[in-house]
Amino acid sequence: MIMTVDDFFDKVITVRMAQDKSAVDIIDQTLLPGTIKRIEIRTKEEVWDAIKKLKVRGAPAIGVAAAYGIALLASQIDENSYDAFYAKFRELKDYLASSRPTAVNLFWALNRMEDTVQRNQNKTIPEIKEILFVEVEKIREEDVQISRNIGEIGFRLLKELKKDGREIGILTHCNAGTLATAKYGTATAPMYLALEKGWAGTDMHVYCDETRPLLQGARLTSFELYNAGITTTLQCDNMASILMKSKKIDIIFVGCDRVAKNGDAANKIGTSGVAILAKHYGIPFYVCAPSSTIDLATPTGEEIPIEMRDPDEVTEMWYKERMAPKGIGVFNPAFDVTDHSLITGIITEKGMCHSPFDQAFAALGIGR
Ligand code: MRU
Repeated sequence: MIMTVDDFFDKVITVRMAQDKSAVDIIDQTLLPGTIKRIEIRTKEEVWDAIKKLKVRGAPAIGVAAAYGIALLASQIDENSYDAFYAKFRELKDYLASSRPTAVNLFWALNRMEDTVQRNQNKTIPEIKEILFVEVEKIREEDVQISRNIGEIGFRLLKELKKDGREIGILTHCNAGTLATAKYGTATAPMYLALEKGWAGTDMHVYCDETRPLLQGARLTSFELYNAGITTTLQCDNMASILMKSKKIDIIFVGCDRVAKNGDAANKIGTSGVAILAKHYGIPFYVCAPSSTIDLATPTGEEIPIEMRDPDEVTEMWYKERMAPKGIGVFNPAFDVTDHSLITGIITEKGMCHSPFDQAFAALGIGR
């Protein structure tokens, strides 16, 4: 059923702290779109598993979930001296950081929580625990504002395209939507902002790549956008070229998991192919990136660690029966890197960045 955008955002809160602060409360994204079910996670193993198994996923949401997780787990540490508390906090932090390697927001959020502990070492342990709960709400609220700012910049691009009055064709890959963040998404933020500013869902037509093998485009992005009332079409990944050739796509927005200093951007597997096609057909290709996703310590995409995932995600996970011979070798990288030369612009909450990206990041004060 199609809802208003506000109803939709109320229903789909990706991650939050349970009211009594005894659990992290997430939508289990592995069950979408058929079942909207919230689950409560309490132990370090449950937090790790939720991130690893993609019950909560998408770079900013992983960061927010890890921050909630460490705040919760820190509240359970039974130590009275700062040194003993901090040692246990570090163990938990290292454990959660081992859940997924590519999205830099995971490490960014955990480091920010650790800084919070260190900055407050003169306080009592109960006070530090309370401060961590406050900090994580700040991270969540900031994430909402960051997505909104990205949306404002992306919306200006949509308005330019709208000048000639026709429906705008937008392509996106994977899910960089509300389910991947605290509210507006990154790649979807321009679309949600357009709705908030009075556009009809029919003013734009969003084409969602299905996103093999885990189907985030089919299960999550098309679910989100359709329910928000936006004209949405789903296609298999290998259909993006024909869409572009037939002039249905005016602009492409994708999210990212880590941007290197030179602008190379890691995002869901298949993104770099979309960028190569876009270059061929002359379609602008924008990466939407909170500045926390820009990792100036990583010089180029070559140094971004790429997560490799289980073969059965390719051979059997979504099928009634196995769709490949037993014993076949399977290549299943979760991400690829789009070369900076293929990127029209990187939209951050601080402003638009064009090549040379390292200079654009510096000019916006990113990384300072
Ligand atoms: O493996 P996932 O589902 O966590 O991958 C998600 C993506 O690749 C998103 O595009 C990216 O994290 C940006 S989310 C705003």
